[in-house]
Amino acid sequence: MKKLLFAAMLLCGVYSAQAVKIIHGPYLQAVSDTEATIMWVTDTKALSWVEIAPDDGTNFYHVERPQFYQTYLGKRVYGTVHQIRVTGLEPGKKYRYSTSSKEVVGVEGHRVTYGHVATTKVYAKDFNNVFSTLDSSKKNLKFIVLNDIHAKQEKLEALLNTYEEGKTDMVFFNGDMVSMVPTEAILFEGFVDAAVRRFAKQVPFYLVRGNHETRGLFATSYLTYFPTTTGKPYFTMKQGDVFFIVLDGGEDKPDSCLEYYETAQYDNYRKEEAAWLQKVVESEECKNAKYRIVLMHMPPIGGKNVWHGPKHAGECFFPILNKANITVMLSGHTHKYSYNTPDTTDAAFPILVNSNSTALKANVNSNGIKIDVIDMQGAVKHTHTFK
Ligand SMILES: [Fe+2]
Repeated sequence: MKKLLFAAMLLCGVYSAQAVKIIHGPYLQAVSDTEATIMWVTDTKALSWVEIAPDDGTNFYHVERPQFYQTYLGKRVYGTVHQIRVTGLEPGKKYRYSTSSKEVVGVEGHRVTYGHVATTKVYAKDFNNVFSTLDSSKKNLKFIVLNDIHAKQEKLEALLNTYEEGKTDMVFFNGDMVSMVPTEAILFEGFVDAAVRRFAKQVPFYLVRGNHETRGLFATSYLTYFPTTTGKPYFTMKQGDVFFIVLDGGEDKPDSCLEYYETAQYDNYRKEEAAWLQKVVESEECKNAKYRIVLMHMPPIGGKNVWHGPKHAGECFFPILNKANITVMLSGHTHKYSYNTPDTTDAAFPILVNSNSTALKANVNSNGIKIDVIDMQGAVKHTHTFK
């Protein structure tokens, strides 16, 4: 009798042996002044939604909160990777959010059967799913930049100590956070899970694609895990006095290199990106900003020693950026610190290359931009200022 009852409960979707669980996230992506994407991964297929509430002191259950869904051509979709775009937000405002996933236990024809729901306990004492939208009128801005971590956890944890809870507004991962993307798990174990533990539920990270993130089976699912406001790995945003331009330099060697197994087409890609960049620098938002900071993983530096990828990126992007009054370009890739003044490169602006064992900690206020280069022990190794 008990067995029969259990089978009946399973059929009704009332009980399943293993309830749906969130295994990665939630983490914030593509946060702009009016929108944000909430990301998470469940251990089994589920239909998901996000509820949003302003951080105004009311109980989350005070009123019905608006729900947002993941849809495709008008239809809510279910799966294990949940990417939910929240729209209609106000700039520079704090919001709370909850995530819910209803397990899909069966699909037969057009019928879908559901099981348990995994949801955020918004009444819990440690509920802290709160983030701020970007604010172009923000007076003080703090951000950090890490790169070339190559999934090394000790290094990542040490350098993330530059993140200051309640003070750091944004985090940039400037490429090569992993060495290859053969599986979904590598992205999470490599750096996303650590980011979630430290800050990514409350503060967004913006991923700059490095040449190593272009490699492996899951490299083509890049935007599934790291959506952007443009639908491309290159994008812009304005926060405080800074207009940020994030560029994707693609791979480092010529497209014909045997290492790419005939899959590389980065010359054409960089040319397409340059056409987009031209429009970006002509925009009023870019022109009117006090500062313009470019992030690109591979620095086009090194004269005759520069490899094809960064060289071609320089040829595509410098003619455009050199007319755009760029404050500084932040790069990585070489695993070695260098500060490249315009007389040593083809750029009309300085290029600050961060090493693989330091983080950049930037502070923007009415005095200008101060960038400290901080090592794994927390010591300041170099400081650069921009007016
Ligand atoms: Fe690299």
